[in-house]
Amino acid sequence: MLSRGESFITLQGTPPESLLDMVAELAGRPAPDAEPPRPDGRAVATAFYEPSTRTRLGFHIAARALGLDVMPLDVAASSVSKGESLTDTVRVLADYGIAALVLRHPDPESMAVATAAGSCPVINAGNGAGEHPVQTLIDLAMIHRRFGRLTGLNITMTGDILHSRTIHGLIMALSLYDNRVTLVSDPALRLPADLGGLAVRRYAPRLEETDSLTRSILKTTDILYMTRVQTERGSENRPIILTEQVQQALNQDAIVLHPMPRTVELPEWFDSDPRAAYLRRNHVGLTVMTFVLETVLGGKNEND
Ligand code: MLT
Repeated sequence: MLSRGESFITLQGTPPESLLDMVAELAGRPAPDAEPPRPDGRAVATAFYEPSTRTRLGFHIAARALGLDVMPLDVAASSVSKGESLTDTVRVLADYGIAALVLRHPDPESMAVATAAGSCPVINAGNGAGEHPVQTLIDLAMIHRRFGRLTGLNITMTGDILHSRTIHGLIMALSLYDNRVTLVSDPALRLPADLGGLAVRRYAPRLEETDSLTRSILKTTDILYMTRVQTERGSENRPIILTEQVQQALNQDAIVLHPMPRTVELPEWFDSDPRAAYLRRNHVGLTVMTFVLETVLGGKNEND
């Protein structure tokens, strides 16, 4: 849940009405303000134990837009390479007076460790194959911008369903409303058992798992949400690729989303297709990251 002055670890537990209000407000927000409030002398630390382009740099820009300093921890050059634990690293940052920590870490338990170790709020920028609630808010805001609602939609999610934290977050958020989800992946990359059980209970019978992106699925899809196969988490299986046949069969009113980075599954030639909504992700991302940071630091949040 995203609440003033609190860590932001998961969207789960957010009442559907509050989430909808927040997403509707975000979807209508202009780009970050040029003259933001300036809470002087406060720094936001970013610690990325996994690679990142958009989220890491986006939080740097968002922090500066809010008049904050940025303290990026260079994980490879820090004492982490000498065996320093996450608890000790977070304690250093907290003792140095940071206002918030943006953390990405391969261990799903890392957010619990970091929130227990430090006295500052933690923003979950991805905990292994767990969640990435910032990206989930971005995805929801983009869906709301296009459809004006979060309900009554057919969402087809493809790729590494097993490891994609952005799929895990989005599937649970969309299960709060009345939606239909089709998961298309190599059989070895299906939903993990724990999440699968929960998702199936929440969606049943509106959730299907299959291994091929058929014409009939594409014809009724409102949102095609694609992901890459995550080789860094041991996946070696077949990607689901946006081919010319997929382009032709896809509902003309659909949008295609992708959390990025892309590999072979989403070819650059598709960028000129009007359904390529993923191209707007970076702009919406800055709005969402500024909002998350402002809220976590106890700033104004009209949804409270
Ligand atoms: C993530 O950090 O989860 C990315 O945005 C998606 C990916 O790594 O494929």
